[in-house]
Amino acid sequence: MTTLPPGYIPFSEVLAAGPLPGEARIFAMVNQSGGAGKTTSAVNIAASAAEYGWRTLIVDGDAQCDASVACGYEPDRLEGQATLYDVLLGVANFEDTIVPALAGAFGAKGTVAIENLYIALASEQLEDAEQMLATRVGREFWLRGLIDTVRGMFDLIIIDCPGNLGLYVVNAIVASDEVIGCVKPGWKELRALTRIELKIEELQRVLAGVKAFLGKVLVVDVPTTRSQGAVYDDSRKSVASAYTDRMLPTVRRSPRIPESYAAQKVLRIFDRTGEATQNYYDITKALGFPRRKQR
Ligand SMILES: Nc1ncnc2c1ncn2[C@@H]1O[C@H](COP(=O)(O)OP(=O)(O)OP(=O)(O)O)[C@@H](O)[C@H]1O
Ligand SMILES: [Mg+2]
Repeated sequence: MTTLPPGYIPFSEVLAAGPLPGEARIFAMVNQSGGAGKTTSAVNIAASAAEYGWRTLIVDGDAQCDASVACGYEPDRLEGQATLYDVLLGVANFEDTIVPALAGAFGAKGTVAIENLYIALASEQLEDAEQMLATRVGREFWLRGLIDTVRGMFDLIIIDCPGNLGLYVVNAIVASDEVIGCVKPGWKELRALTRIELKIEELQRVLAGVKAFLGKVLVVDVPTTRSQGAVYDDSRKSVASAYTDRMLPTVRRSPRIPESYAAQKVLRIFDRTGEATQNYYDITKALGFPRRKQR
């Protein structure tokens, strides 16, 4: 049997200890193209909010399982651990997929649980999620139904999405209060924001009860193979001027980000004083989650 990391408190015990926070604010990190910094941002915003005293849940619905890995888990290798796929199959409850986020790999020496931070684990089998959801009644509302069952148990819930605008991402948008459009600097990326807005408008039109809107735009300076130069600067300004009131602080490019992912540690633990770490603290405050007094 694997020894559990120090500080590991199963979610069921957290609940039993009460009191519960109330009602979480729910954000979905969305962009239809891959590699826009969605997962990095979901995990590191959540980790900053948790440090500031907000009980936070990351929902990993991506078959790549990147958020789960970033939080110390390779879910498909953990025997007996429920994932979102099991919930989709109807053999587990959503609560059963929620585990404490870790700094370090599960089972490795020195790994510890991160206070206040939890993750609902994904599975590689979620590849089939779109097809399985497609034939369901209320197919756009599956995730909202699940998240509603734990909404009162957290202050903040961040849904990490795969890089598309398919049915799972529609579920994430419908489940959220607000969408954070996550973009790399660039012309193509700027146009992606318009497509996200159109998608949200369409959902509001055809489905009753969709609250979400494109509330925030986050520019993450991820490395890209395309040359950037002047176009890069111009397009960054364009994003800023088109979405002025919604811009979050930009995340600077940093080699520490892929390194922290490889170490399965959130940035604030891997690179406490780094610039990108500070960027994520600033973003977390800008989202309305400043440091709070302990409950
Ligand atoms: N600010 C940054 N500086 C340098 N590298 C970064 C930065 N942000 C993210 N990266 C790296 O860029 C890659 C893509 O980031 P990430 O996985 O967060 O994007 P994503 O939008 O979740 O991608 P996908 O659509 O595939 O899920 C990763 O290797 C990540 O480590
Ligand atoms: Mg991702």
